[in-house]
Amino acid sequence: MKPAPCAAATIKSVKNETLYSCSKCGAQSPKWSGRCLECGGWGTVREDAELPASGAAKARADAKPKQTISLREVAGTPLRRVATGNVDFDHVLGGGLVPGEVVLLAGEPGIGKSTFLLALAANLGQPVLYVAGEESPEQIALRAARLGATGDIHFLRDTDADTVAATIRAMKPALAIIDSVQSLSTAAVESEAGTVGQVRASGAIIAEIAKTSGVPVVLVGQVTKDGSIAGPKTLEHLVDAVLCFEGDSRAGLRLLRPEKNRFGTIEEIAVFRMTDKGLVPEPNPSRILLADRRPGASGSAITCTIEGNRPLLVEVQALTTKSVYPTPIRRASGYDTGRLQMILAVLERRLKLPFSTADVHVNVVGGVSLRDASTDLALALALISSASDKPIDPELVAFGEIGLGGEVRSVSFADRRVKECEALGFKKILAPDAKTGGGIELWPVKTLAEAIAKVGLR
Ligand code: TYD
Ligand code: MG
Repeated sequence: MKPAPCAAATIKSVKNETLYSCSKCGAQSPKWSGRCLECGGWGTVREDAELPASGAAKARADAKPKQTISLREVAGTPLRRVATGNVDFDHVLGGGLVPGEVVLLAGEPGIGKSTFLLALAANLGQPVLYVAGEESPEQIALRAARLGATGDIHFLRDTDADTVAATIRAMKPALAIIDSVQSLSTAAVESEAGTVGQVRASGAIIAEIAKTSGVPVVLVGQVTKDGSIAGPKTLEHLVDAVLCFEGDSRAGLRLLRPEKNRFGTIEEIAVFRMTDKGLVPEPNPSRILLADRRPGASGSAITCTIEGNRPLLVEVQALTTKSVYPTPIRRASGYDTGRLQMILAVLERRLKLPFSTADVHVNVVGGVSLRDASTDLALALALISSASDKPIDPELVAFGEIGLGGEVRSVSFADRRVKECEALGFKKILAPDAKTGGGIELWPVKTLAEAIAKVGLR
């Protein structure tokens, strides 16, 4: 739909700017192209809307000013919250759902989103509307029986966003679950269900009804393998909270991590373990993440990352082999490839280690995604350990950020990390600085060269 042209834009001398956007990934550009420069999709770039040239838009002269509200007035009103009965989920949200809140629960297919929400709905003890866009109510009922879940759940088998909105308005459930937002579509947009335009428009319809009816809504968002929520970013500004559901689909650990939270912090995460009776809270995730470790194997190092505000011990594995390709392979699961390239470059230049002719594979055990630069040191050690085929002391944990000069920089929350290492029985910590209570030995290092000498890799 084109916006009504404003008065200034109709003056002949003002040139309108047209914006093009890709219907697959949502990328916008000022020029049309046959192939999207972002996602590589052919024939997906379409004209979006005409924008008035910069400087051409002016405020309407007849618009009336409106009464403002002072901070003091608003600050006195406490937020009402609805506890869902799932203590960990409530904690991540900041104390429960807020009326009219829209939460996007994003995760890869098969990670356990539907199972998690079914249990949540069953435990709520109040009417829940479950929009089943992906599975039939019969399939969901079968799963509910397996999980031993009952509850006041009402299924809606319709994927028209306007029908869903009308049902929410009429039924006024305590919670509405839309599984998934990609299955919704609206007649207002021409493209097929699942395209960016449809996801954006359907999401907007649901968000609007949540705000006006006060019904909290959880939207399930399927994430593609490369990590983008289909209809990427376009939904994020529309919702109040984005919760990412993560974990290796083969390993049993699941992390619920907020990426955005208008009614709370993004510091709190929840960790669950998958069982055949559904997800159960896991008080000691580090122990599970390290359970299958093979001490004495080369190419493996333990690090301590901070997820939300809790420390997590994880194993970083690296495998290097001589490359037969002109451009060697760099593959990383759970680690940013750009960061891996940077560390390889530092190792090559500062330590003269010949990684430029080696294929490199990196894996973070347990499906955890490491975003924290404090894990650099462990990755560097794992890489050198694999290349030299020398194992690292299994009782050692390494953390520290690596700089381009080959220096090891200190990291935040060092004391919390040390405590977690101690609790899990580790004996040595390799880090730029940290205080220890004495139960654990600290090996302070300032450079990568010092670190590998201390660990005995050189
Ligand atoms: P499902 O909830 O369907 O994943 P998603 O909605 O994210 O695509 O879960 C995938 C499968 O895992 C499903 O067959 C149920 C099973 N599962 C369990 O058996 N136990 C659990 O604790 C979880 C979370 C899932
Ligand atoms: Mg599902």
